[in-house]
Amino acid sequence: MNKLKATLLVSYVGEHISGGFYLRLAHQARTPATIRERLKSTAGDETRHGEYFNDLHEQEFGNRFSARPLLISLGKVFGSASRIIPLKHLLHWVATAEATVVKALEKDVATKPSTPYLQLVTKILPDERTHAEPYTL
Ligand SMILES: [Fe+2]
Ligand SMILES: [Fe+2]
Repeated sequence: MNKLKATLLVSYVGEHISGGFYLRLAHQARTPATIRERLKSTAGDETRHGEYFNDLHEQEFGNRFSARPLLISLGKVFGSASRIIPLKHLLHWVATAEATVVKALEKDVATKPSTPYLQLVTKILPDERTHAEPYTL
């Protein structure tokens, strides 16, 4: 598979699974209202990012991925399964994982020649930095 196509597929899949995951966390009964709003907003960001990667795929390869409902459902399953982890620990882990992603993306943007893919990464980085902020419970 073409390298860019593979990168866009991985990004599309990851963003939509994340979208479903955050949405389920937001709607779980034990999630406090203040955290719920942030999680809902983050879910919206991730789903939007997934579609940005899909737009770029269409621009570059002439067709779109069409697994969004399936991937969001899969993310929700992960969100439900994560109920076994205390919310405080789960949110800490999630913010840490986002911070790791931010670091990797910032490094790519800083060190690699600009491409449409990296321009898109630059566009979503402010959202990702917000996702990486620690949660206060
Ligand atoms: Fe994202
Ligand atoms: Fe994120």
